[in-house]
Amino acid sequence: MNNKIITLVTGANRGMGLELVKELSKKGQQIIMGSRDFNKGQAAAAGIENVDVVQLDVTDNQSVKSACKTITDKYGKLDILINNAGAIFDHWQKPSEISQDSLRADFDLNFFGLINLTQTFLPLLKQSKQAKIINISSMMGSMTEALNPESEVYRASAVGYQASKSALNMFTVQLAKELNKENFPITVNSIDPGMVATEFGGSTPEQSKEMGAKPIDFGVARTVELATNFDNKDTATFSNTHGPVAW
Ligand SMILES: NC(=O)c1ccc[n+]([C@@H]2O[C@H](COP(=O)([O-])OP(=O)(O)OC[C@H]3O[C@@H](n4cnc5c(N)ncnc54)[C@H](OP(=O)(O)O)[C@@H]3O)[C@@H](O)[C@H]2O)c1
Repeated sequence: MNNKIITLVTGANRGMGLELVKELSKKGQQIIMGSRDFNKGQAAAAGIENVDVVQLDVTDNQSVKSACKTITDKYGKLDILINNAGAIFDHWQKPSEISQDSLRADFDLNFFGLINLTQTFLPLLKQSKQAKIINISSMMGSMTEALNPESEVYRASAVGYQASKSALNMFTVQLAKELNKENFPITVNSIDPGMVATEFGGSTPEQSKEMGAKPIDFGVARTVELATNFDNKDTATFSNTHGPVAW
């Protein structure tokens, strides 16, 4: 079992997380599906091979610790951590009016929760010969694209969500530099999946498609590429299927 790639995907009971579980399990990886509602995770995992489900609410420290203990006891290492769980709590609220509650909700999950989870799992990642941390970010977090009138995200306005993904990108860079400096064989990268037809933001996948969202397999393509290529030692990058994304 120890030779198998052990991969944890957070927020994996639906959307891109579930698609990542399906595609990476087909590639022979042992997947641990993090789901904040265990029963939803079990239902979603039905029929998929090489999958364990753990209850995992990224914003709940007890849940994060307990999931880490379960995985440590069973596998003793973690090769890939895909920080996929994420949500948007503010829509079109003016930056001059956005509530503190919305801002905090965005940051609690997409930034503070993600960092706490990553810190908790780092000792387990350090047991791997070559580990990867893949942070699912968004082009919505790119300052450069937010200022580019030609960009598909130029008109978006969700300052809490966008800032939480920009902040996540800085965590990617700084953690990558720290691990590299200390010679740990762990890469840390941010991915932009693009606008993808899931239930993200409360729309149905059909509604998202009508607005131009891409199919779900397109959304996970860059992550699958990175998660299956152990020759690629790039770290501190931000990319999508087209190549590098401007920070
Ligand atoms: N879809 C897009 O267009 C798009 C674009 C750019 C980036 N992204 C990013 O891609 C990632 C996946 O999004 P998606 O489109 O697949 O969205 P989705 O269909 O809404 O799925 C989000 C997943 O995150 C889980 N989640 C929410 N809060 C959580 C928490 N506190 N702890 C653990 N899990 C939690 C959800 O679980 P429940 O079922 O329990 O709610 C669900 O499994 C997110 O990080 C998102 O920001 C999406």
